[in-house]
Amino acid sequence: MSILVTGATGFIGSHFCVEALAQGLDLVLVDNFENSSEKVLDKIELLTGVKPDFHQVDLRDTEKLESLFKDYSFESVVHFAGYKAVGESSADPLMYYRNNIVGSLNLLEMMKRYEVNNLVFSSSATVYSDPVFNPYTEEHRKLPINPYGNTKSMFEDIMQDYAAANPHFSAVPLRYFNPIGAHPSGEMGEDPKGIPNNLMPFITKVAVGQLKELQVFGDDYDTVDGTGVRDYIHVMDLAEGHIRAIAFAENNTGYTPINLGAGKGYSVLEVIKAFEQQNNTSVPYKVVARRAGDLAQYWADATRAKDLLDWETQLTIEDMVKDSWGWQKKYPNGFNDC
Ligand code: UFG
Repeated sequence: MSILVTGATGFIGSHFCVEALAQGLDLVLVDNFENSSEKVLDKIELLTGVKPDFHQVDLRDTEKLESLFKDYSFESVVHFAGYKAVGESSADPLMYYRNNIVGSLNLLEMMKRYEVNNLVFSSSATVYSDPVFNPYTEEHRKLPINPYGNTKSMFEDIMQDYAAANPHFSAVPLRYFNPIGAHPSGEMGEDPKGIPNNLMPFITKVAVGQLKELQVFGDDYDTVDGTGVRDYIHVMDLAEGHIRAIAFAENNTGYTPINLGAGKGYSVLEVIKAFEQQNNTSVPYKVVARRAGDLAQYWADATRAKDLLDWETQLTIEDMVKDSWGWQKKYPNGFNDC
C-alpha cells in the first residue's frame, strides 16, 4: 500500500518526500508544476537514492486523478497542493476557491470512491482569528481574514463533515505556523517566483544581493521590540511531523486538527540578528509602515502534537537561518541554477 502525495514538488512537499523516502515509505508523487520545478525530482533522487514515482496531475483534472486511483492502491493521502499567496488570493479569490477547494474536493471524492480513508492536509495557523488567547491551541476560534485562509478553513470543515459521516475516515489537518529553513545539504529549499512575500526568502535575497534592503513592516507593535513575532519552524521538523501524522491517521479515526509549531516566537529583528550572526553576513533593512492584515504576535501551543504524535521541534532558529542561507548561497537563482 502506498501513500499519495499531492503538491510533492513544492517547498514543504519536497522536504517531506525526502524525509519519507529516506525512512522507507512507499510514495506516489503528483504535482502540476504550476508553482514548482521539475528539477525537484532530481534533487529528491540525489538526496535519497530513490527515483520518485512521479505523475504530472492537476487535481482539477478528475479524469487523470481517477486513473491514478485506479492504478494504485493507496492507504493514505498527504495533500500539500494548493495556492498559498495571501495577497493574490484577495485579488483573485475565485482562482483560489477553484484550485484549493474544488481541487481538494475532487481528491476527497476520489478517496471516497476508492475507499482511501486517511487524509493528512496542509493547513495553516492562518485559520485562527486574532488571538483571543496566546499561544493558540487547536480549540482557538477560527476566523480567517483573507480568501487564502478561508480555503484552508473551509477544507478543514469539509474534512470534518466527511469524517463525521464516514466512521472509517481519519482527517488530520496540520496547522503550520511559519515554515522556513531548507534541506541541510543546501540542495533543496524554498524557491518563490518573483519578489518574495515572506520574511525568510526576502532576507536571503537581500543577503545574496538580489534585493537592496528588507522592509520591516512596523516597529510599533506591542511586542518585545515592536516588530511582529511569529513561531518559525524548520521545514525538516515539519516534514517529520507529517510522517508521524500519517501513522496517527492510519491508527485512528475522526477529525483531529494539530498545530505544528515550535511553541516559541521570534521577532522580525531577532530573526534578522540570528541570520546575520549565524551566517556572518549583513541584511540591510529599513522600518516601514505596518503591512495590512498582519497580527502583532502569535505562536503555537504544540502540546497536542507532542501528546498524539510524539513530535516536537528539534531544530533551532540558528539551524533555520543557516539552512535557508545554505540553499540561497549555493543556488542564488533557486532551481534555475540547478
Ligand atoms: N515581514 C517583514 N518584512 C517582509 C516580510 C515579512 O517585516 O518583507 C514580517 C511580517 O510583518 C511578520 C513576519 O515578518 O511580522 C512574518 O511574515 P511572513 O510574511 O513571513 O509570514 P506571515 O506570518 O505573515 O504569514 C505566514 C504564511 C502564510 C500563512 C500565515 C499563517 O506566509 O501563508 O503565516 O499565519 F497564512
